[in-house]
Amino acid sequence: MSRLIVVSNRIPGKAPAAGGLAVALKKTLSARDGFWFGWSGAFAETPSRDAKFETIDGLQIGSIDLTKSDHQSYYAGFSNSILWPAFHLRLDLTDIHSHWYEGYRRVNVQFAEAIAKHIQPDDIIWVHDYHLIPLATELRRRNIRNKIGFYLHIPFPTPDALNAIPHHEELLTDLLAYDLVGFQAQRDVAAFNEFIAHEEMYRQAGGTPFEIEMGNTVLEAFPIGSDPDAFAKLAASPNAQKMYKRVERSMNGRAMILGVDRLDYSKGLPQRVQAYEKLLENNANLRRAVHMIQIAPPSRDTIKEYQVISDELDTAVGRLTGRFAEPDWLPITYVKRAYSQASLAGLYRLARVGLVTPLRDGMNLVAHEYVASQNPENPGVLVLSRFAGAAEIFHDALIINPFDTDETAEAMRLAISMPLEERKERWESLMKVAQTYNIDNWADSFLAALTGDASSGTGDDDPDGDPDEEGALLPRAGALSRSATMSLQHRTPRLSLLPWLRSVFSGT
Ligand code: F6P
Repeated sequence: MSRLIVVSNRIPGKAPAAGGLAVALKKTLSARDGFWFGWSGAFAETPSRDAKFETIDGLQIGSIDLTKSDHQSYYAGFSNSILWPAFHLRLDLTDIHSHWYEGYRRVNVQFAEAIAKHIQPDDIIWVHDYHLIPLATELRRRNIRNKIGFYLHIPFPTPDALNAIPHHEELLTDLLAYDLVGFQAQRDVAAFNEFIAHEEMYRQAGGTPFEIEMGNTVLEAFPIGSDPDAFAKLAASPNAQKMYKRVERSMNGRAMILGVDRLDYSKGLPQRVQAYEKLLENNANLRRAVHMIQIAPPSRDTIKEYQVISDELDTAVGRLTGRFAEPDWLPITYVKRAYSQASLAGLYRLARVGLVTPLRDGMNLVAHEYVASQNPENPGVLVLSRFAGAAEIFHDALIINPFDTDETAEAMRLAISMPLEERKERWESLMKVAQTYNIDNWADSFLAALTGDASSGTGDDDPDGDPDEEGALLPRAGALSRSATMSLQHRTPRLSLLPWLRSVFSGT
């Protein structure tokens, strides 16, 4: 089996993995040779040229240090103040400084130089997320001819949002240096195709579009998942039960409504608190009968927009508390810190309502973990935003529009009053989906599509399955989609679309 090189901004650390990505990939890499490469988390006066290797938790990890100013431009700047808000359709929150792009590319070059020395001819390279879009271009420049795949963990933007990103044409060209580009959802494949259609429309209107033509890069949706069976076990484990019992006692028979999110403006937290406020406003009988817990560990807090959302949420929670709290009852507990997976599993299991209501989200693994943690005899109800990638697969959740706080409030009410039989029916269907779209199948499907070899994954699922049988390597959501293959025909000068964009925004 070929070695696998995983590349991402963050590498798994010694502490419990914070994000879904780390948890997801650890398992795949531990089933084969290779290494995981990323930023060490440390700063250096001069950029490091060579990777340091160490074994962490049984995994070979290569890393480099970055200079503070490159990290600022690459991570807080171009990645998280331009790409992140634009890809989440929050153009109002972008903060564009042109020199950040140079730092972003410089770090991608630094990654490519450090990795290229360690690549063997048969290695497969799997690059993760928006921080590293140019990496394949830089590796190809260094004569790396291996299969290189890219997976985008966040949503792909609409044409207007993409056009608003400085150097987006170069970034699209960078995507074409990959053999396979994987997205979370059909919505993202559709958004990519929409950009192509948009450019065609522009050409027909007499403009000079950015032309891309189907070629060798394959685009496909591979919805990421969790390890639901492991999560189900974890939720029933003594560590999870410790948290479950502690909080159950404090609930005193009240129904618990739970949200667990990074403190990010894409998660729709103020809207969620407002919806809860409407629930209490419209249903006086629920006031002492429910309690909401919102866990929101701070994230990217050097970036102004993250400080703003944190303040906004403080205000929303304060207003709600002042309005509804009584000396012996609080409507909400807002906790600004991270918890272990076991503690979260215990909380998920106790929650009668799991709120996953982002304004826009790649997949949202909290939705998967909430479902997996439920007690099959008394499951809770998932209230899910239609703008999370998870909404494409979890049809038996209560699907809401997070911008419509009346609808979210009503979904909470329905969830709280839902009869056991309906809760069980919905949960059984959701759990089957979580098991089908599990993390092993995700990695196996992506790697099989990248290598053209159905046996290239961890291979520990469905040992008796016929590899030719449709669904043996579920979920190939992309099988439902067109696998777009593209190659660049020619590039138009940058800024060529600006006059047209201006007319779109000014409505002329
Ligand atoms: O959802 C995209 C993502 O990059 C995840 O992979 C990661 O867990 C999360 O955002 C946290 O981001 P950061 O690394 O900036 O803390």
